[in-house]
Amino acid sequence: MSSGKPVRLGILLSGRGSNFLAIAGAIREGRLEGVEIAVVIANVAEAPGLAAARDLGLKHEIFVSKGRKRAEHDADVLACLRAHRVDLVCLAGYMRLLSPEFVAAFPNRILNIHPSLLPAFPGLDAQEQAFDYGVKVAGCTVHLVDEHLDHGVIVLQRAIPVLETDDSHSLALRILDEEHVAYADAIARVASGEYEVRGRRFVKRKVSIN
Ligand code: GRF
Repeated sequence: MSSGKPVRLGILLSGRGSNFLAIAGAIREGRLEGVEIAVVIANVAEAPGLAAARDLGLKHEIFVSKGRKRAEHDADVLACLRAHRVDLVCLAGYMRLLSPEFVAAFPNRILNIHPSLLPAFPGLDAQEQAFDYGVKVAGCTVHLVDEHLDHGVIVLQRAIPVLETDDSHSLALRILDEEHVAYADAIARVASGEYEVRGRRFVKRKVSIN
């Protein structure tokens, strides 16, 4: 991906948008060089993350998904991403499954963040699932999106211990702090062009010396 040109992100969100804001903060503070936010897209009109994008002066669009066929909604979102010349799609609390056409349109170019150490606890309320299971280590995963839920190649994970004093709420908050670091780090890795997918592994490219 590193052709010298900035890598343009398309952020998709449905709610709060704290991961989006962490990415925007990393760019603003120079921790994510060569990356810019091309557009923020929400599928829920009231999403606080959308209002935050507007307040930051970023390009933002709303495509309400409720009541629409997945393929039709996704076609609109795809057209918007293309119009904004997006290189890398970042799902940041986007509470909607992508159609196969969407996934195929950005091969290995869609990232998602999930608040568990995948493959444990996919799906909703992952932090609560982990807490209720009694795990001693929890965390978050940034992964490439494929056609299955919370399944694609893992780009990176951050782990934290579950404390005796934790409840599921405090654990979720501490995982969220890790998410905010993890997402920017994962974007930096993908944008660097120095990594490749080998099987299920996301690894540094081998440098060939001629
Ligand atoms: C995060 O916990 C993320 O891992 C999950 O959805 C939540 C979104 O939070 N996919 P926010 O909207 O980024 O604050």
